Amino acid sequence: LASIEVDVKALTPGMSLTVKWRGKPVFIRNRTDKEVQEAAAVKLEELKDPKARNQNLPPDAPATGADRSAGKGKENWIVMIGSCTHLGCVPLGQAGEYGGWFCPCHGSVYDTAGRIRKGPAPENLAMPIFSFTKDTVIKIG
Ligand code: FES
Repeated sequence: LASIEVDVKALTPGMSLTVKWRGKPVFIRNRTDKEVQEAAAVKLEELKDPKARNQNLPPDAPATGADRSAGKGKENWIVMIGSCTHLGCVPLGQAGEYGGWFCPCHGSVYDTAGRIRKGPAPENLAMPIFSFTKDTVIKIG
């Protein structure tokens, strides 16, 4: 299937879901206000990869908390390909010292915006094309 639709109504803040899309895991997380604020407070110069890696935005978009989210009014939602940008292992959610994702293969640590903060991975977790088709339905692809 080229695209899928996922109903995320059951995901209350702090919860996440992994779906399969084009044979890859896709992480969807409804971030808490605290997580959104923490991600927004990080300065770009603190980031190993300052690019958003968000296919819904221009390639040079910065990795701000907002540009790593589903956008205005939906900053709590994050949708990412669940493949570590080092060698492609699947990172574990709600893990690692930044409360985001932790890759058990070689120890890459991603924050709550899926941005690489420590370890060998070179890039932030990639964000696929997606959009909300209804308030609680996300179309991926
Ligand atoms: Fe994730 Fe190497 S594959 S750290």
